[in-house]
Amino acid sequence: MQAKSQYVSRLMRLLVHSNFFIEVNISDNNPKEGYWLTPASRLLLKDEPLSIIPFLQVIADPIMIEPWHYLSKWLVNDHHQTPFEMAHGRTFWEQAERVPRLNHLFNEAMASDAGLVNLVVLRNSKQLFGGFESLVDVGGGTGATAGAISEAFPEMKCTVLDLPHVVAGLKGNKNLSFLGGDMFQAIPHADMVLLKWVLHDWNDEDSVRILKKCKDAISSSKNKGGKVMIIDMILNNHGGGIKAMEDQLFYDMAMMAYLNGKERTEKEWAKIFSDAGFSSYKIALGLGVRSLIELYP
Ligand SMILES: C[S@@+](CC[C@H](N)C(=O)[O-])C[C@H]1O[C@@H](n2cnc3c(N)ncnc32)[C@H](O)[C@@H]1O
Repeated sequence: MQAKSQYVSRLMRLLVHSNFFIEVNISDNNPKEGYWLTPASRLLLKDEPLSIIPFLQVIADPIMIEPWHYLSKWLVNDHHQTPFEMAHGRTFWEQAERVPRLNHLFNEAMASDAGLVNLVVLRNSKQLFGGFESLVDVGGGTGATAGAISEAFPEMKCTVLDLPHVVAGLKGNKNLSFLGGDMFQAIPHADMVLLKWVLHDWNDEDSVRILKKCKDAISSSKNKGGKVMIIDMILNNHGGGIKAMEDQLFYDMAMMAYLNGKERTEKEWAKIFSDAGFSSYKIALGLGVRSLIELYP
């Protein structure tokens, strides 16, 4: 028992040092060691609304760790396959379709990410959604963001388009529906298209293909030709200092290891918007290390 408490003390010493706990004296008379949670460790509580536990579970899964072991081999190879494909013999999306555990963990992680973004987006909802009647959330996962928008705007028709294995069995309601399909093939018509954390999964060529499909989807909108909203990172465009930049650069490495994607500077974003035929864009909101960009046809 004593030995175990010694291990716990050593572990807590590290966690205090890395700001996950604060050491406190929990007894007035008899000095006794205790710990308080910090804002960082609150995010690791299971029942916290903004918990990032599902996110950590997926990135720590052996399926997601394995590709990192292939990085050096991949760097000296011809790059036809991603490190993920070298490790598992198929793309990340194919693997998620075949391995239910990965599909479940990944979809849960994506849904958990929606909490904070939804709060900020809905706080600015008048500016973002005012006057629009329909929205398609392309690559919208299990509907955490579209679901929140559909609740806030009961008159807006919201559709989530994602791969069939992601939306299988999901039930919509009066103004929310789920559609299994492929965004490279077709996107249903709507006033607005949302692409949250989708384009960083793809290289420039594929991103332009997706954006062209989005432009087709909004082409019949009566509201000034509609718009596409992108939630993704703009490298070095945040007020968060060194740590935020480090976060963005690590995401860039993850996109390299898992997928054929990347994080982009504003100049790189502007190039793919123009290549896809959009006339202008506006950075409408900052969302921590991410931004919400509006694209106009
Ligand atoms: C990084 S996740 C983002 C999910 C969600 N938008 C969010 O932010 O929580 C990318 C999503 O794109 C979907 N996806 C990948 N390829 C697709 C395709 N060809 N057609 C439609 N969706 C696709 C994935 O299944 C996944 O749900």
